[in-house]
Amino acid sequence: MSNIVELYNVIKTYNLGEGIKVEALRGVNLKIARGEFVSIQGPSGSGKTTLLNIIGGLDKPTSGKIIIDGTDITPLGEKELARFRREKIGFIFQFFNLVPLLTALENVELPMLFSGKLSNKEIQERAIDLLKLVGLEKRMQHKPTQLSGGEQQRVAIARALANEPAIILGDEPTGNIDRATGLRIIRLIKNLNETLDQTFVIVTHDLAVAKASKRTLFMTDGKLEETPPKTVLTIPAPVLMEERRQLFLAELGWLKSSLLILKERREEIDPDTFHNAFSAYKTRLEKIRKLLKEYSSAGGEKNNEA
Ligand SMILES: Nc1ncnc2c1ncn2[C@@H]1O[C@H](COP(=O)(O)OP(=O)(O)OP(=O)(O)O)[C@@H](O)[C@H]1O
Ligand SMILES: [Mg+2]
Repeated sequence: MSNIVELYNVIKTYNLGEGIKVEALRGVNLKIARGEFVSIQGPSGSGKTTLLNIIGGLDKPTSGKIIIDGTDITPLGEKELARFRREKIGFIFQFFNLVPLLTALENVELPMLFSGKLSNKEIQERAIDLLKLVGLEKRMQHKPTQLSGGEQQRVAIARALANEPAIILGDEPTGNIDRATGLRIIRLIKNLNETLDQTFVIVTHDLAVAKASKRTLFMTDGKLEETPPKTVLTIPAPVLMEERRQLFLAELGWLKSSLLILKERREEIDPDTFHNAFSAYKTRLEKIRKLLKEYSSAGGEKNNEA
């Protein structure tokens, strides 16, 4: 299994001058494989945000080594890091940080505009697909202030998915919304993780997030420890079925348009890249089709089930 994250003895010391130092990370080692859903808990000030920032290339360690999706990002400069973040990382924060003047649709389009890989038409189609994926097709023209907290957070998730990041990092994504909405967000993350194999690392005080994740870590005083899994979040079967069916349908639409775009651009892309991307999309498409079939027939027979 390939690792998306590899940290080796990462130390982060903040120098506050006059000999005062804060040791935010004190030798963190961590490996996260593709498709994992990891939650990180720990007291305030223990170094969780610092760790996320370092994994996401927003901050540099004092020492240690950081390999993300096969690239050693430790020596990268500001410009290269910006590019790395754009291509590899999706961020979801507590305070949404959507652009207030832009609509939901435009907010999701933004990272794709920056990466400059798709035409404007393709970008818009994909943004619509992503908003469908998070169940917001009826809110596309709304600005952030015209959306509820949970809706804003779902826009942030759609935006985080936009450039097909290797990993999505969340800092208290349910910290600023009510409990019921928070649970919807957690379910969305869990579903995206399990259907798209999207890797997530979520820092949280919310025990429900920890329960939904497959692996829980605990940060104390700049040190990271693995904690044994406790109880796991269970979603009522009919609810889970329906939510996943919707997700599969949206994902199917998205994959189909991705394949179409890829075919249209065949001439511009080198053959190896084309074949790799094509077969990756194809495999996912077939997997989703199969799952959708299972879920649809299981949904139909729901009443007969124990
Ligand atoms: N830019 C900075 N300059 C100096 N010290 C900092 C800086 N950023 C963080 N720290 C310190 O590093 C330590 C870890 O901070 P961090 O933000 O990672 O904690 P946290 O676990 O995310 O806490 P919380 O749960 O409150 O968000 C804290 O003691 C904090 O005061
Ligand atoms: Mg924090």
